[in-house]
Amino acid sequence: MFDSHFFSRHKKSIENYRAWIDAGVEELLASYPDGPYAGDRPASLVDALRGEILPAAPVPTAELKSRLRTLIAKSIAVSHPRTAAHLHTPVLLPALGAEMIISALNQSMDSFDQAPAATVVEELICEQLCRLAGLPRPAAGTFTAGGSQSNYMGVLLARDYFLRKRWNWNAREKGLPAEAGHLRIFCSEAAHFSVEKAAIQLGLGLQSVVRIGVDSAFRMRPDHLKQQIETARAPGLAPFAVVATAGTTDFGSFDPINAISEIAREAGLWLHVDAAYGGALLLSEKHRSKLDGLNRADSISMDFHKAFFQPISCGAFLLSDKARFDLIRVHADYLNTEEREADGIPDLVTRSVLTTRRFEALKLWTSFQAVGREQFAAMIDRLASLAQFAASQIAALENFELLHQPEFGCVVFRYAGGRADGVNRAIAQNLFDSGRAVIGHTVVNGRACLKLTFCNPCTTEEQIRDLLRLIENCAAEEVLTAHA
Ligand SMILES: Cc1ncc(COP(=O)(O)O)c(C=O)c1O
Repeated sequence: MFDSHFFSRHKKSIENYRAWIDAGVEELLASYPDGPYAGDRPASLVDALRGEILPAAPVPTAELKSRLRTLIAKSIAVSHPRTAAHLHTPVLLPALGAEMIISALNQSMDSFDQAPAATVVEELICEQLCRLAGLPRPAAGTFTAGGSQSNYMGVLLARDYFLRKRWNWNAREKGLPAEAGHLRIFCSEAAHFSVEKAAIQLGLGLQSVVRIGVDSAFRMRPDHLKQQIETARAPGLAPFAVVATAGTTDFGSFDPINAISEIAREAGLWLHVDAAYGGALLLSEKHRSKLDGLNRADSISMDFHKAFFQPISCGAFLLSDKARFDLIRVHADYLNTEEREADGIPDLVTRSVLTTRRFEALKLWTSFQAVGREQFAAMIDRLASLAQFAASQIAALENFELLHQPEFGCVVFRYAGGRADGVNRAIAQNLFDSGRAVIGHTVVNGRACLKLTFCNPCTTEEQIRDLLRLIENCAAEEVLTAHA
């Protein structure tokens, strides 16, 4: 009776499955936006998309398609060359093919009996990633929803490892000790805010995060790190982890991992490297050296929904010594008993903070197979050269200031004429509201700045010139309006 609703080998299911997939492809191709964005504000989107959410009976197919078309047309076109605000990538076609298989198979990565082949693929790909990062043999990993979850896991394991090793305290059994307020994590001023989020969620509070100064290229200063660790120790505080960033969100800058790892080792701190963005450079012959020292990390975040061109969500957390997953290991009678583990059955729930989990690894696996390492490397290198090209153009613009030489795919700059902060903010907002471009904005040393993030290797130099002309014109319009 319900066969036509579900994916199966049933004849009705097969017919209906094809109809849904065909309709999805058709609507997507018919309505995918020509520009970066339709320019709607939240209120007009509510008007356009409101409608009965849970009708008693199915809505007519034509009406459903029309609603889907509206939604598609009012989405951000991630593959448009003038969409350059965030680490928000256009997606590889093999990954889209894999997404269909992932959803239809609906394997759940928590236990082997829900995902046998998928478990093996995830393990193999994590092994490959650990090898790429140069982690030693007992390393292992798990797929995550992204950089925030991976950073959370890094801080969680670092905290509990420190408590066990240094304070002989079993946090898994007893929760946090009374002195937990003394714990300190170090990361640079340019590190991602998910470090603070992790500290909040892990009961350490914002007080636990010490931000370390950066140099003129927005890389963590090892001398500041050393000094801040000593300063924290003086009143009896307890440094336990350093988070180095390989590819900062705003600047794409790379902290000097080797120097940081030396300081971390001497001070007995866990080194987590947030390579959510810059980890992609592991594939690049040209830029790989920016990640030197990554093999010395205790744990690593890597995201594939950034510079590996995967659909959201797709990330990984890599751990140099897989035995440390014990810190979060829990057994459940219905899922992953100790007997199963003793029999060598890999129930991956023991490595994750989640239970039910999608088989995201398949899209990366399919992309690796279909594209190959050389093409991947060329596409990743292209992001870096686009950012360098944009920087060279910006440096030549009158009234604009370039804040850094890009190391990867981001360029931060600003209109530096009169009323600069207001003009910079207005440029990004006006371009978004008019749907002409989606560009980034940020604040550097208290000043409003603009940011271009190149995630699309198909973008051309000419398109970058056009985008910069648009930004210049928008600045001029804004200045004129302010004087009118
Ligand atoms: C360096 C870095 N780390 C972590 C994150 C968080 O990743 P996600 O948004 O996948 O949680 C980001 C996001 O941009 C990032 O740039």
